[in-house]
Amino acid sequence: MTLFKGWEGPDSLAEIMQEIFVTGGAGFIGSAFVRLLLDEISELRIRNFDALTYAGNLDNLEGLDGSRHSFIRGNIADSEAVLGALSENTYAVVNFAAESHVDRSIANAAEFLTTNIVGTQVLLDAARERGVKRFIQVSTDEVMGSLPENEDVFFTEKSPFQPNSPYAASKAAAEHLVRAAHETFGLDTVVTRCGNNYGPRQFPEKFLPLALSNALNDQPIPVYGDGRNVRDWIYVDDHCRALLLAMEKGRAGAVYNIGARNERPNIEVVESLLKTLGKPKSLIRFVKDRPGHDRRYALDPSLIETELGWRPQETWESGLEKTIEWYRQNTQWLERAKSGAYRDYYREQYGEEVSAG
Ligand code: NAD
Ligand code: TYD
Repeated sequence: MTLFKGWEGPDSLAEIMQEIFVTGGAGFIGSAFVRLLLDEISELRIRNFDALTYAGNLDNLEGLDGSRHSFIRGNIADSEAVLGALSENTYAVVNFAAESHVDRSIANAAEFLTTNIVGTQVLLDAARERGVKRFIQVSTDEVMGSLPENEDVFFTEKSPFQPNSPYAASKAAAEHLVRAAHETFGLDTVVTRCGNNYGPRQFPEKFLPLALSNALNDQPIPVYGDGRNVRDWIYVDDHCRALLLAMEKGRAGAVYNIGARNERPNIEVVESLLKTLGKPKSLIRFVKDRPGHDRRYALDPSLIETELGWRPQETWESGLEKTIEWYRQNTQWLERAKSGAYRDYYREQYGEEVSAG
């Protein structure tokens, strides 16, 4: 029986995996990963454990096969809840759950420490207690800080940790704990560091969906500083395919960079969006810079390319088109995401009201 398309491992289903425990699977990337797993692996069951914070959204899980996917509301920092939900049949824990927005971490870091650091340790302990085979930590390029612009240098897996925001520092701390669990207890861990994701179902506090949503509503698009900060963009499903490979074939104890060799200054991202949407550049509004704003992220993905054979499938253009089309077709999703507490956040962060639709 073939488990994965292209699966090369042992044949016995029982030997390999029965159940995957995904944390943060109601968020942007986690929900895309859950979809991918259900599509790609015929026999697999998923337990999706998520606290449903402001960023978690059950709309993201609409239409999933309930016989193979179950949702459990719970906090990864609550060890009783985690142990209650984590079964001994679990092949892998894939940890997406996190406070993920840099600006919020600058306003208040407390939740970042509880979820991103304490929560990761709770999961590691629970994984050991339940005899889980693998632990995949979804991390970020931001743990390595900022690169100089206009120089031919990239983050590799050996780049030093130099986190510059409370968010990045909390993710770096989590990575240290994962490493420690591997070195001290022999837990089979894999850490992945990805660049900036874009795609359907991304919460509109993040730059790309915020810009897209404002452009669709003819509202000004806030661009921090001079707009020349560079991010390395990747379509969310390409990230998820890399995670699947890392779970399937990644070396125990390894770290893999996941990047699509797609560096873009923020201003160019907005201009691409506006051009595709047929909206004027006059919507761009330069605003006060983010404190400690990292200048440039750029990943060297050679290791995952050579070791695991991963390649992105989308180009920037094809990914952007899919993303824009999804947001156009799902205005209700966007409206619901932008209601409630998000209105207060937007007012606080940008000093004006969020756009209506
Ligand atoms: P997101 O903010 O959209 O989703 C986070 C999810 O985690 C939400 O569903 C939320 O309810 C859940 N969550 C938060 N705190 C929790 C807790 N204490 N217990 C259980 N669930 C909790 O984030 P995302 O963009 O999907 O990012 C997912 C992961 O990928 C994060 O670990 C993030 O650091 C990492 N990452 C994201 C990007 C990116 O560009 N978005 C890039 C690299 C790495
Ligand atoms: P963001 O989506 O917050 O991701 P990260 O900070 O994790 O890279 O921001 C992406 C880039 O866009 C970053 O350089 C900050 C910038 N940005 C703006 O210019 N305006 C905004 O309103 C936001 C949210 C971000």
